[in-house]
Amino acid sequence: MRHLSSLFHLDADQVNDILNITADVKAKHAAGDRQPLLAGMVAVMVFEKPSLRTRISFETAMAHLGGSSVFLTTEAAGLGGRESNADVARVLGSYADLIVMRTFEQSLIDKFIDEAGCPVINGLSNESHPCQALTDFFTIRESLGALEGKRLAYVGDGNNVASSLAVGAALLKVRCVVSSPAGYELETDFLLQLKQFAPDADISIVEDPREAVAGADVVYTDVWASMGQESETEARKKVFAAYRVDADLMSAAAPGAVFMHCLPAKRGLEVTDDVLDGPQSIAFQQAENRMHTAKGILVWLLQADGYLE
Ligand code: CP
Ligand code: NVA
Repeated sequence: MRHLSSLFHLDADQVNDILNITADVKAKHAAGDRQPLLAGMVAVMVFEKPSLRTRISFETAMAHLGGSSVFLTTEAAGLGGRESNADVARVLGSYADLIVMRTFEQSLIDKFIDEAGCPVINGLSNESHPCQALTDFFTIRESLGALEGKRLAYVGDGNNVASSLAVGAALLKVRCVVSSPAGYELETDFLLQLKQFAPDADISIVEDPREAVAGADVVYTDVWASMGQESETEARKKVFAAYRVDADLMSAAAPGAVFMHCLPAKRGLEVTDDVLDGPQSIAFQQAENRMHTAKGILVWLLQADGYLE
């Protein structure tokens, strides 16, 4: 049985299969062809944090593919008190064809993988955001025509989005530079795991954001304070001020570089309006692609008819 817990559990061929299925279903959708590849199937969504893109992209994807979805907050599901997490996972897994989860702890997703008996998708945890990174590499390939050898500069917090991008970059031979203020870098344990996973990957850490974006084909940023870190917002504004992506920083990237953001954005903090709304920005194409990539992930995970390997 397949799951999507972290990109560390995929290989390059599997990632490319998901990206290729995504391209195919996106083209068919544009032509008005909504194939019922998941007819009658039900996704149960269990979310501990807010979501616009992840929730709605999976819900619309299920509907377009002929299936349906049920949304539950972790509180409504009774996690963390009413009964054990393992029991909730077993019961939900007996109703659902798959479960999409958004959690604080990655370990809760892994608990569901152990107990639910159906495919489980990580729709963001504090550690990782694999669905986002798959979308991002799909969008880069769509915009720049290729992935291998491209240079991606991530400027900002060394968070869940940054870590999944770094793993995806390693798998797809994208050169990746991560630039964060001291104390907010990608975690040392994660970097060691990445080194073991992909010893030859071209991943570097560069503290100076201008140096990091020099020659970059993609400049990427995310919020300075993630969900769960709201109380640190003011302190982080000071620490991250030099890491704002503005027109000046974009001008240090390669000519023709694109700007990306997973959204939601805090306009005026990590990115200025002129960059987010400007001609180099593909952030809203990226947001739309969450839905197409959700389909690619669902079809790959459930090995839907017509896409069987
Ligand atoms: N990018 C992303 O995951 O957005 P949501 O938090 O709205 O799902
Ligand atoms: N790093 C952000 C991503 C939101 C999609 C967060 O975890 O809140």
